[in-house]
Amino acid sequence: MTRKILVTSALPYANGAIHLGHLVEYIQTDIWVRFQKMQPKEQVAECWYVCADDTHGTPIMLRAEKDGITPEALIARVHGEHARDFAGFHVAFDNFYTTHSPETQDCANEIYARLKAAGLIEVRTIAQYYDPLKQMFLPDRFIKGECPKCGAKDQYGDNCEMCGAAYTPNELINPYSAVSGAKPELRNSDHYFFKLSDPRCQSFLRRWTREPGRLQAEAANKMQEWLGFNENADAAEQNKLTDWDISRDAPYFGFEMPDAPGKYFYVWLDAPIGYMGSFKNLCAQKGLDFDAYWKPDSKAELYHFIGKDILYFHALFWPAELEYAGYRTPTSVFAHGFLTVDGAKMSKSRGTFITAESYLQEGLNPEWLRYYYAAKLGNTMEDIDLNLDDFVARVNSDLVGKYVNIASRCAGFISKKFGGRLAAVDGVDCEWLKPFRSAAGTIAAAYEDREFGRALREVMALADVANVVVNVRKPWELAKQEGREAELHDACSQALEAFRLLTLYLKPVLPKLAEAVEAFLDIAPLAWSDAGKPLPAGHTIKPYGHLLTRIDAKQIAALVAANTPPPAASEQPAPVAVPAVQAAVAAPAATAAPEADNISIDEFMKVELRIARIVDAGQVEGAEKLIRLALDVGEEKRRQVFAGIKSAYDPAQLIGRLTVMVANLAPRKMKFGISEGMVLAASDADGKTPGIFLLAPDAGALPGMRVK
Ligand code: 2FM
Ligand code: ZN
Repeated sequence: MTRKILVTSALPYANGAIHLGHLVEYIQTDIWVRFQKMQPKEQVAECWYVCADDTHGTPIMLRAEKDGITPEALIARVHGEHARDFAGFHVAFDNFYTTHSPETQDCANEIYARLKAAGLIEVRTIAQYYDPLKQMFLPDRFIKGECPKCGAKDQYGDNCEMCGAAYTPNELINPYSAVSGAKPELRNSDHYFFKLSDPRCQSFLRRWTREPGRLQAEAANKMQEWLGFNENADAAEQNKLTDWDISRDAPYFGFEMPDAPGKYFYVWLDAPIGYMGSFKNLCAQKGLDFDAYWKPDSKAELYHFIGKDILYFHALFWPAELEYAGYRTPTSVFAHGFLTVDGAKMSKSRGTFITAESYLQEGLNPEWLRYYYAAKLGNTMEDIDLNLDDFVARVNSDLVGKYVNIASRCAGFISKKFGGRLAAVDGVDCEWLKPFRSAAGTIAAAYEDREFGRALREVMALADVANVVVNVRKPWELAKQEGREAELHDACSQALEAFRLLTLYLKPVLPKLAEAVEAFLDIAPLAWSDAGKPLPAGHTIKPYGHLLTRIDAKQIAALVAANTPPPAASEQPAPVAVPAVQAAVAAPAATAAPEADNISIDEFMKVELRIARIVDAGQVEGAEKLIRLALDVGEEKRRQVFAGIKSAYDPAQLIGRLTVMVANLAPRKMKFGISEGMVLAASDADGKTPGIFLLAPDAGALPGMRVK
């Protein structure tokens, strides 16, 4: 039967840069799609690859606010950056769209209406934390506090990174808003729930997740665990799935719910619907039939490539939504593992949190990375490691040392000695090429199964054979001997035929290199069926040009350096002998400074003054003048500063206040801990007007804003 295939990759959030971790999935999907597109039309009539930016939700709303722009402006800018990065790595979507689109909104409204009509939506009042300063309800990730189990400070509202405990935000001790630092209040609000606990959803998902081909075995097992599947338990005990909260209160950047003003669809409701929205938009561009892919009895195949962290949404919520909204469900959900670099989680401080943009800007070839990832990828959820030394060694050895080497050692003779014309490659001495042709089947099967590592091992084993044949025949020696022209012609033509076949098999992974080879061989774009069609005798090739450079280890060092932030204030060595309290309180002179002490604007700009929110303040045991402050300066991590303001302030009254801090002051090691900056306060140098006056910005300033 002729296949029609629709493929998606997870939608990246529209508030961050694409990095090498993201690229595992886009490269994996792109290779699979390119492979499908190389198949004969009778086998794969159509294969469409769609994606979009995931544009809604609180983090995007707050990020835009922080940048001083509208969310629309933010997502437009990020869309351009993402499209550029994907194109840079040859990820060839048929459509890269946005969830902030009329198509996605229409589909979301329709799915919601159908779920409601099916009796699967319920409104319930829930108590949720509210930030009285920001005047918004807080998502779990924006509430912090002390872990109710182990007491660790600054833990998120859903789980503790120290002891691993899971809890609800209401259980946190001394909660505070990570947005403003304010103490949150519990407030009631109506929320809309998708009733996953409904017996229909339960039994559907139990069946669906176990159907052959839907999920990888390890994923299916995980789902059964989440579903609480236990054949011996009674129905109530089995039911582990709880209802899913699909609404959020204003202010929220998203789609307002059609029947509930002031309520918005939760970003995860409309994100997968963005797959539909993007495809609908593509249908309009190309005149395709949307329903042929999405109606319940569709014969088209639908595949979602995702990371294992979002399996829950794709293997439970999404199929249930589709099923009860009257759509087809995914043919399969393919989950991959995470990327580690040199065996560890990507790290900003180690320079291994590498952005796609920096990789390209440093002049590294995107196909090196495509090859390396492909060589490491199988069809499981296992993590893959980008070992930077191995990356250099593998690419240089396989692609340059083995694959390109075949052409570079033979092509010149064809041009110089035979006017670029190839000899026939079907004689008895061409038997060695047979396995090269028959490999088309096994390599195709490996690609189809997403066993790219296996496909490439087979390709490289063939490249080894071709190199052995070239080594044995030694064209460079034949070329020096009179009367051996025919042998030279055959040897080089056959080697180039092997090279053509290897290029064909590598083409899903290395599309640009394949294009260059097609130009050099002067042939039409290679398709899978070309494996059985050797170039005819007399076919003329173009002069050989350089195809691929080796990676120089220095380039990798430069890439890591480009991604390593300059040492932050908190990482610089602490100067000694600076009295702590002086550093913690600025005491500008009340009189004008003498002329000679003027500083230039450049000197002033060296001082990084930023707005800081005091998220915590406390006494320092054994210190007469100090208060310990925890400051939010718009960074991931809070800063600790010891300020000599105890005589003027009670710590409790400082919590939630905004002030100004010197953010790039070298940290100071004190008896009580490290002080990572300095807050600004005024005081009268003469002591005539006693007191210390902490600076505060006008309303509207946010943590992290630069003061100048
Ligand atoms: O986890 C993420 O990055 C989400 N933006 C993925 C969404 S995938 C799909 F459901 F839209
Ligand atoms: Zn804990």
